[in-house]
Amino acid sequence: NKGRYEHYMQKEIHEQPESLTTTMRGRLIQGGSCKATTVLLGGLKDHMKTIRRSRRIVFVGCGTSYNAALAARPILEELSGVPVTMEIASDLLDRQGPIYREDTAVFVSQSGETADTLLALEYALENGALCVGITNTVGSAIARKTHCGVHINAGAEIGVASTKAYTSQIVVMAMLALAVGGDTISNQARREAIVDGLYDLPSKVREVLKLDNEMKDLAKQLIAEQSLLVFGRGYNYATALEGALKVKEVSLMHSEGMLAGEMKHGPLALVDENLPIIVIATHDACFSKQQSVIQQLHARRGRLIVVCSKGDAASVCSGGSCRVIEVPQVEDCLQPVVNIVPLQLLAYHLTVLRGHNVDQPRNLAKSVTTQ
Ligand code: UD1
Ligand code: F6R
Repeated sequence: NKGRYEHYMQKEIHEQPESLTTTMRGRLIQGGSCKATTVLLGGLKDHMKTIRRSRRIVFVGCGTSYNAALAARPILEELSGVPVTMEIASDLLDRQGPIYREDTAVFVSQSGETADTLLALEYALENGALCVGITNTVGSAIARKTHCGVHINAGAEIGVASTKAYTSQIVVMAMLALAVGGDTISNQARREAIVDGLYDLPSKVREVLKLDNEMKDLAKQLIAEQSLLVFGRGYNYATALEGALKVKEVSLMHSEGMLAGEMKHGPLALVDENLPIIVIATHDACFSKQQSVIQQLHARRGRLIVVCSKGDAASVCSGGSCRVIEVPQVEDCLQPVVNIVPLQLLAYHLTVLRGHNVDQPRNLAKSVTTQ
């Protein structure tokens, strides 16, 4: 039921404050004498020791689910101290890459039925790794075949383009990072800031959804473009990949997400006054590096659209013209959840304006059950 919305994708974008609340429900437990919040992921509690002791955590997924894992990787590395590596399921299978008994392999899949991810799971099971699922679908093949896991509880996602599942996946993996990391004196302040950030996240997402009209206006300006680049780094490298994936899969406009640190190693050659480029430059440890990327793009007369934290408009765009989209600032590791929303809205409006099918893009299926 689409309710008051015209399309499922639109409905699912706008219901993210609620889906995120459901994802966290019952999992952040406040209490005890020290008032600290503990994270309870019921499905993992008997396996936490094994996960903490593993030599490596390997994320495996496809498409948007892979991007969600990429967004969560930095915080999992920071809090757990365990090396975290990334595998696109098909590539792991193509290479028959090494997976060991001492590994924890985490399979991320909205549907829980994606053929490549499922085959990669079977491969990891044969190799003796602890296999953890992060899925949205209770009773799905991946939920059944993993040793343990977490349901993201985002509610059924009907639009082929994944939106609310993406943000809920990131939140589950941030909670996984808190759970694996455990309490130490040295990371106490950081943990508290992340927990506070999680509690605030639904209201920050509600706030960023108010950009709807602004993103529709931007979509009108971009309607006839051939191509759109998205640059991000750090926590928001994933935002660049996921924003570009949304744009290309529904609006059928060519779009590429790129690591800003790679700009000088090739992509810079594409920059001219015509090609629109979105730069994600919200406030975090990479901010000054992104400011310098923006300056270099200005120097080549790049056509820039900058996503920045509220209040940073003047400092991101000094010395050139650009369109600025200001988003609320949250704890750095949760910022990808906020930052993807304007790009989801842009992809949605571009698609409607260009007259394409939003909920069932050409050639795509919701669940890819063949290789
Ligand atoms: C569970 C209940 C939830 C209830 C809560 C109360 C289910 C599906 N969930 O939620 O209704 O409100 O207890 O305590 O009945 N699993 C996998 N692989 C996956 C995903 C999950 O093996 O990919 C396993 C988990 O290890 C766990 C079970 O499925 O054994 C349920 O997982 P989850 O729903 O995340 O657990 P809870 O949040 O504890
Ligand atoms: C993009 C999209 C796909 C899926 C991918 C994996 O919007 O929906 O890229 O993310 O096919 O699907 P799941 O998560 O079901 O394994």
